Amino acid sequence: MTEIVKYSIRKAFEMNSVPEKVTTLGYAPSSDPFIPSKDKNYVFRKELIREVTAFLKSPFGDALYVTGPTGSGKTSGITEIAARLSWPVQQITANGRMELADLVGHHALISPKPGEAPIMKFMYGPLATAMKYGQILLINEIDLADPAELSGLNDVLEGRPLVISQNGGEIIKPHPMFRVVVTGNSTGSGDPTGRYQGVMMQNIAAMDRYRFIKVGYAEAATEMDILGRVAPTLNESIREGMVKTANEIRRLFMGESGDDGEIGVTMSTRTLVRWAKLSLQFRGAPNTLKYALEQALLTRSSKEESEAILRISKDVFGEQWR
Ligand SMILES: Nc1ncnc2c1ncn2[C@@H]1O[C@H](COP(=O)(O)OP(=O)(O)OP(=O)(O)O)[C@@H](O)[C@H]1O
Ligand SMILES: [Mg+2]
Repeated sequence: MTEIVKYSIRKAFEMNSVPEKVTTLGYAPSSDPFIPSKDKNYVFRKELIREVTAFLKSPFGDALYVTGPTGSGKTSGITEIAARLSWPVQQITANGRMELADLVGHHALISPKPGEAPIMKFMYGPLATAMKYGQILLINEIDLADPAELSGLNDVLEGRPLVISQNGGEIIKPHPMFRVVVTGNSTGSGDPTGRYQGVMMQNIAAMDRYRFIKVGYAEAATEMDILGRVAPTLNESIREGMVKTANEIRRLFMGESGDDGEIGVTMSTRTLVRWAKLSLQFRGAPNTLKYALEQALLTRSSKEESEAILRISKDVFGEQWR
């Protein structure tokens, strides 16, 4: 087993504003295939680093719930942090049909060697693996899961051992480095806006076992930084226009009170990055920006939404919108 080590936040995340003595936990670098790979263009937000590393270091018996709008950097925030701490991650995405057994494991016919007769063997699922080996269990879109199934996790979230009845009552004690992190667009109390298909209201007792952090869309300066890294050859004024357009679209989506917007689509950081990359790919086409925006967002919007978004873009880009 790899050694548990202390990491200086300043060094691990190249954050010069953080004092050297602020540390978090992780593993010594290794070739474990479950350690997420690093995206060298990733732009870290200080607040997210602070909250997530504090949890990873001292969870105090909690699990972590990361909530925020689509494409804001929840999943990638966790995997990019884990990558720098060499912390292996078991990652799955929940859905309405997910069962606790999918997380725990199942029996399968396995040949010990190629060509040999297969034998029945119990294969650990992501939960059992993470618990046994001290990894992070990352469940995305947790609020799509059936609350009754999710309640089956309650014992484990409280730090109790996992009993695998299907495997002769095997007992897995939680490794001290076992962590549970989940992400979701809602906060587990349903989706009052009706924008996220399939979101279920979660059980209040299950939700009581999480600490919550919010990841909204990054500030303009951070998004400029992201675009500067993924599309460095795009004109700076174009990049500025894109970030501004994205924020105008978000305002229209959110509306006055946050959930009564005029349009039902928004521009996530994911879509913004796609728009910038496509604009480079189709450089030279007539009205490249519009052409790229169509593929990035407009084609999946309604006619009215599309018109509203085009109006915003024209206003923001002025002369450049050709
Ligand atoms: N800080 C960042 N630096 C670089 N790229 C980013 C950053 N934040 C988000 N992105 C881009 O946005 C994409 C989406 O991020 P991510 O998958 O983390 O979103 P999410 O919040 O989990 O969304 P969803 O709710 O849809 O699952 C990433 O693949 C990346 O391209
Ligand atoms: Mg995600």
